[in-house]
Formats: sequence, C-alpha cells, structure tokens
Amino acid sequence: MGRRTHVVLAAAAPALLLVLLRLHMAVAADPPFSCGAPSSAAFCDRRLPIEQRAGDLVSKLTLEEKISQLGDESPAVDRLGVPAYKWWSEALHGVANAGRGVHLDGPLRAATSFPQVILTAASFNPHLWYRIGQVIGTEARGVYNNGQAEGLTFWAPNINVFRDPRWGRGQETPGEDPTMTGKYAAVFVRGVQGYAISGAINSSDLEASACCKHFTAYDLENWKGVTRFAFDAKVTEQDLADTYNPPFKSCVEDGGASGIMCSYNRVNGVPTCADHNLLSKTARGDWSFNGYITSDCDAVAIIHDVQGYAKAPEDAVADVLKAGMDVNCGGYIQTHGVSAYQQGKITGEDIDRALRNLFAIRMRLGLFNGNPKYNRYGNIRADQVCKKEHQDLALQAAQDGIVLLKNDAGALPLSKSKVSSVAVIGPNGNNASLLLGNYFGPPCISVTPFQALQGYVKDATFVQGCNAAVCNVSNIGEAVHAASSADYVVLFMGLDQNQEREEVDRLELGLPGMQESLVNKVADAAKKPVILVLLCGGPVDVTFAKNNPKIGAIVWAGYPGQAGGIAIAQVLFGEHNPGEILFHPTLSNSWRLS
Ligand SMILES: *[C@@H]1O[C@H](CO)[C@@H](O)[C@H](O)[C@H]1NC(C)=O
Ligand SMILES: *[C@@H]1O[C@H](CO)[C@@H](O)[C@H](O)[C@H]1NC(C)=O
Ligand SMILES: *[C@@H]1O[C@H](CO)[C@@H](O)[C@H](O)[C@H]1NC(C)=O
Repeated sequence: MGRRTHVVLAAAAPALLLVLLRLHMAVAADPPFSCGAPSSAAFCDRRLPIEQRAGDLVSKLTLEEKISQLGDESPAVDRLGVPAYKWWSEALHGVANAGRGVHLDGPLRAATSFPQVILTAASFNPHLWYRIGQVIGTEARGVYNNGQAEGLTFWAPNINVFRDPRWGRGQETPGEDPTMTGKYAAVFVRGVQGYAISGAINSSDLEASACCKHFTAYDLENWKGVTRFAFDAKVTEQDLADTYNPPFKSCVEDGGASGIMCSYNRVNGVPTCADHNLLSKTARGDWSFNGYITSDCDAVAIIHDVQGYAKAPEDAVADVLKAGMDVNCGGYIQTHGVSAYQQGKITGEDIDRALRNLFAIRMRLGLFNGNPKYNRYGNIRADQVCKKEHQDLALQAAQDGIVLLKNDAGALPLSKSKVSSVAVIGPNGNNASLLLGNYFGPPCISVTPFQALQGYVKDATFVQGCNAAVCNVSNIGEAVHAASSADYVVLFMGLDQNQEREEVDRLELGLPGMQESLVNKVADAAKKPVILVLLCGGPVDVTFAKNNPKIGAIVWAGYPGQAGGIAIAQVLFGEHNPGEILFHPTLSNSWRLS
C-alpha cells in the first residue's frame, strides 16, 4: 500500500468506522420485544403494576388469539405488536440449545458448559451453585440481546429427589437429599433470575426466568416397560411433605422461582398437571408462588391419550386449566382449547387467569418495555458468553465436584517428573460429548481426559478397551498389552448416555458389560496399582475395585462438563485437591452445609 492511499484512508477513517460499526451491528439481529413505538395502551405503561398491564393485554385478545397463546410456541399477535414467544428453553448446566427458544447457530455458537448437576452438587458449595446460576442468567441475556433467542424462560433446575439410584435422569439433579436439593434450587434460581444470593427479593424484574421441575414425585423413566407417562406414584402425605416437595417449596419460597413445571406421572391417581391441590392450593396458596406453571412436553395430551384420566381431549384441557396450569408444552390446548370453551368445559376466566400469569412473566422479563437493548440487562452483549471468568468457573465446578473415593499407599497424586509414560485405558477416556451429560449446548471448549493428560505426560497412549460404556465388544488383549508396557495406568470407566438418560433407567448398579473384567485384567498386568476414574451420573457399585489392592485409587468425576478433562488431569497430578472446598467469605453460615 502506497503513501497516498494511506493518507486518503486516514481522512476517510470516521466514515469507515461508521460503516464498520454498522456492519458489526448487522451481525446481531434485534431481539423480539413489544411496545417499541409510542403507545397509549395500558399494557405498555411501565408505571402501572405488572398485573394490571397483563390484565389489559389479555382483555384486548380475541378467543382464538387467547387459545393460541397457551402452547409453548406462542404465535405473534401482530395487530397489538406482540411478537411470537417460545417458552421452552433449557439451561440445566449452562445455556443449552436443547429446547426451542435458543439458537446457537448464529454469530454465537457455544455457551459455557458446566458439569452435570450431580457433580456440581458434590462440591457442597452453595456459592458456587449461585455463581453458576448467575452466569447462566448473564449468558442467556447475551444470547437474547444478540438476537439468537425467542424466549428467556429456562426449564431448569431439575430438583426431583434422586430416590431410586437406577433413575436415568438422576444425573440432572443435586441428589437424594431433600434439604440439599432445596438449597441448590434456591441459590441457582436466585442466580439465574438476577437476585441476590440471600435476603429479601425486592424486585419482580427477571434477568432470566428459572423453572422448578418436575412437580412432583418423579424419578422413573422406563423400568421394564413401566413408563413415566403411565406411572402412578403412590405417595403418602408424609412422604410428599418430607421427601418430594421440600425442594419445590424451597425453590419457590427461598428462590423466588418464576416457573414451575408439572410432571408426566400421576400422584395417587391424579396427573400432577391436573392436580388443583398441588398447583393451586400448595404452590400458589401455601407457598405464595408467583409465576407461571407449564406442563412437561405433551403432558396434557397423555392425560387423555395414555392415562385415560380424561375421557375427551377437551376434558384434559379443562382439568389442567382448572387445576392452575398456565401453558402446555405442545399444541394440545391450542388444538382443543376453543372446543373446550364452546362445550362449556372451560370458562373465559379459566383462560384469562392462565394468560395473565404468562404475560406477567414476559413483562417481568422486560419484553414489553421497548427494545431490551436499551433497558435493564440491555448492556449484556455477546462477549459475555463464554468469557474467561465463566469458563474458569466451569473449571472450578469440575475440580470441586470431583470426589476421591479410594487412595491406598499414596497412589495419588501423580508427580509430573516421575511419570514417564501413561496408558489411558477405557471407553470413557477420550469421548468429548460424554463429558457433557445431557441437556447441554455446544461448549466453549472441548478437551477429553486423554487430551488433557497428554499435556502432562509426553508418552501417553490411549486404548479404548471396549466399544463404549456398554462394553459388549471388547479388546482386552490390546488394553492389557498397553498396561504392561506403561509406567502408569489410568482407567476411564463408568456409564454414558446409552446407559442412563431420559427414557432410559438402569436395571442394576454394576459397571456395564465387560468393564469389570477389563479393569481387573488391566490392573493385574500393570506395573503399579492403577488409577480408576469413574465417569457417570448415577451411582455404580465398585465394591470389586475397592477390595482389589491392584487398584490404588478411585476417583468419581460425574459428567464434568467442558473443563472436566482438564480438571481430572489437575486432580490426578495434585494441582487441585478435591477435598478442599472454598466458601465465599461473605457467605452467612446458614448457607453452608456441614
Ligand atoms: C433490594 O435488595 C438488594 C440486595 O438484596 C439491596 O442491595 C437493595 O438495596 C434493595 N433495594 C431496596 C429498594 O430495598
Ligand atoms: C460417547 O459418549 C456419548 C454420550 O454419552 C455416547 O452416546 C457414545 O456412545 C460414546 N461413544 C463411545 C465411542 O463410547
Ligand atoms: C451391544 O449392545 C448394544 C446396545 O444394547 C446392542 O445394540 C448391540 O447389538 C450389542 N452388540 C453385541 C455384539 O452384542
């Protein structure tokens, strides 16, 4: 480039900058919102109470428009300037694209992926849980403000009590303890919704909306053909009050949750989404719940189609609206709502009550205050998503969740200077997607345990040993050979999403297939006692490994998220002590768990 052009360019710089800025802004689309243009409508008047604004908007809708809003994909009402809204987004352990509202396929293609909840819970650190909630709230706004979301209602946390260890979704929960699950729920929700970690909640504004799910007594997917859709949980009143409901009570009362999801199963014969006692009397009445109640996806349809509890589709619609449910994940109310009204099975007030709850949430999210970019939370930009502090927190969560189960004769930590070669063996050692569990979005980074260990030991080899966690096709000979040729051996075993997930429960708690035999033969062949790392959400019975002196250490690492591979390597090499928990100094004692 010559001198002359240089000068010309310098003179044109301000204009050029403007063009560049324009280009940059064009990348991010405007998020959907209402009340951008000056309006005399009361529902746009920010000075009025939310209830009044929601009531005003509902009073302006026709019957057909009203019914159209009662599904998770709510269409636009153009004549009132109301955009479409998608109620279903997921953020179990990071903003995910598992629902319908969030799209990580535009300028933003990833979000911070924290460990699966069962591991994070094992940190016993409510401040960490709160910070994760905060990051999710921030990244959710970042994605929304960047025009890549059509909703800000996230269907997390999953706080069902993990009572049956075979449950495929136990990995999503904080575990089997109702009190701890309740603490997790409260601080996570506070973080997501933009509240302080404790103390009075003095604003109804929502950074993002969290949802306590699945209300209630749900911990079965499919056990020998008994499915969650048909299951009728027989629960005593005492068990409901002592075990299944305390996390929901805490989620609502202490967390100030703005959403609840009723579950698929029945409780003592009544579908939870059709249970007035549960939704209206207990949640809205006893716990003062102020928010919206959604069904699990297609949970209204199954009340008729699977459970036969409702004789006609219109009866199912009436059952849930009269019980206090507000929005149906799925199109069942949208399809059968008008006829339910025409048949006199639901009243205008049944419909309006639900709609007021729904629009109140959208208003609390600030979506009826003009362009959210110029409102509270409007300054949260795309650069907040996957930023370093968030990724560091994902690493901390993995480090602090990991549990040391056995460490005989000082097998751990390993010393970088002493380990000249390592054989990494097992189906879970080099599988990036396995680290994320379920309900995840694309992570900011992806490093498997084997890749992370390669950063510590130059001479590192990987042998899978069997086809996958199912381990019904093995190559134990190759694994044994690798084990006998290396200085140290680290085995990565456990479960994967084919063994435990939504719709899949386990039948027993042992390691699947030939895993046990693989571990024992490798341990026999190795020069020194081996290290066994378990990647799984639900518990596995490893009594054999506990009792085998050739297995020097056992580490449980759950499904540790995007930084899990790195965290495991750090723990194995003593750079992080998983027994050390860092509490936030300002945290009051009441938030500590002993
Ligand atoms: C609301 O609560 C926050 C933190 O709990 C506090 O900092 C703030 O001063 C409170 N605002 C009002 C108006 O009470
Ligand atoms: C990797 O993990 C995923 C998720 O759990 C699983 O579906 C897949 O089968 C695993 N692949 C192998 C080769 O183990
Ligand atoms: C291994 O198990 C999977 C899942 O159950 C099954 O689909 C496959 O056929 C099995 N393979 C063999 C060789 O048994």
